[in-house]
Formats: sequence, C-alpha cells, structure tokens
Amino acid sequence: MDRIIEPELMDDPEQGKAYALADFSGPNTQFLNLFADKFTDFVGGGKVLDLGCGPADILIRFVDRYPDCECIGIDGAEAMLAPGRKEIVRKNFDHCIHLRCQCLPVAKEGNTFKAIISNSLLHHLHHPRDLWQTINECADPCTAIMIMDLFRPESTARARAIVDTYAADESPVLQQDFYQTFSLRISMTSSAELDLICSVVSQETCYTP
Ligand SMILES: C[S@@+](CC[C@H](N)C(=O)[O-])C[C@H]1O[C@@H](n2cnc3c(N)ncnc32)[C@H](O)[C@@H]1O
Repeated sequence: MDRIIEPELMDDPEQGKAYALADFSGPNTQFLNLFADKFTDFVGGGKVLDLGCGPADILIRFVDRYPDCECIGIDGAEAMLAPGRKEIVRKNFDHCIHLRCQCLPVAKEGNTFKAIISNSLLHHLHHPRDLWQTINECADPCTAIMIMDLFRPESTARARAIVDTYAADESPVLQQDFYQTFSLRISMTSSAELDLICSVVSQETCYTP
C-alpha cells in the first residue's frame, strides 16, 4: 500500500470532538504499560514532553501513574487540544499538565526533558525529520523516549477491513481518520542518528478506537 498523504493537523472541530468521544483506553493504557516495562528506572519527577498530544489522554494517564511530573503537551491543532484542556481542569491536573498549540519542529528551551513520548503523530508528518529533530533538541542521553505508531497494511483492502473490524460503531469522521492512519510510512532511516530501537509491539489490533 502506497503512502496517502493526509493533512498534518487535525484542526477540524469535528475531528477533535470525535477523537475525544472515542474510547482509546485500550491502546493508551498499553502505551503506558510499554513505557513502564521499558523504563523500569523511571519513577517520575522532572519534565515530560508529549509530541502531537491531541486531547492529552496519554498525558493524563501518565500523571495518574507518575504524579510528580511536570508535563508539556504540544499539538498544532487547537481543535484537538480543546477537549483535553477541559479534562485536565476537571481532573485538577492544570498545575502539572500544560498544553500548547504549536507545530513541530520544536526548539530546545531550558532544561532537557526526562521523558519524551509520542503516539500516532509520526504518520501525520509530511517531514518525519521534524520529529527526530525535535527529539534531538529536547532530549539528553538519559531521556526516556517512546514513540508508538501503526505500520502500514499490505493493501488498501486490508486497511478497510481493519477499520470495519475495529471501528464499525465509531463516527464516520473517526473511521476516515483511522483509515487514513494506515497511510503511515515511518522513516526509520532518518532516525538512525538517534540510535532508537524499533520493535513491533503488536499486530494492528494494538490500535482499536
Ligand atoms: C492521531 S492524533 C494522536 C493524538 C494523541 N497523541 C493520541 O495518541 O491520542 C495526531 C495528532 O498530531 C497532531 N499533529 C500533526 N502534525 C503535527 C505537527 N507538525 N505539529 C504538531 N502537532 C501535529 C495532530 O493535530 C493530531 O492531534
């Protein structure tokens, strides 16, 4: 399946609403569990950066698990951040989770981050290097870095079947976003300078909106 370039930002308010209403508890909990398994020495404290954070569900879960963190979530689409801002206030996390409407690449500011996380951003980027460049700027050799995304199925028919299997009951907007997600093409070669380890953590079922 060839890459289908989709719009980078999810800045349609309908997308923000559909995304915030969908239940991502499975994959987002899995993301946190994988992080905890991989970074057993990470006990919280310090600054955490979530790139392409969307409605910040992962950051909220992160703070639930590691209460002493100061988290910054960056997303270029205010439509995606808006539901997250409400949820952060509702959970009384506004002292420790700060959301910024900003596009990658992000330049270094102040101290480096103790953890950098990103889920499902990479396939949106027209220039994947923006992600690697941002991580290079904001990380030091001790930073815990975890990036998760989907890999492309072999055909558009398979992509359609996955959407039908896992998102049949979701809104048309979310189904379309999910389908477009399969245009993913991770440019791991451009990440070589970061010395990242790339593992397949599950079949496509890891991502079930
Ligand atoms: C599929 S959503 C993932 C949201 C969140 N990480 C999650 O797992 O629920 C991808 C997000 O990346 C954002 N995004 C895409 N390109 C971006 C860029 N260049 N800079 C900042 N955010 C970007 C989109 O606006 C969207 O909110």
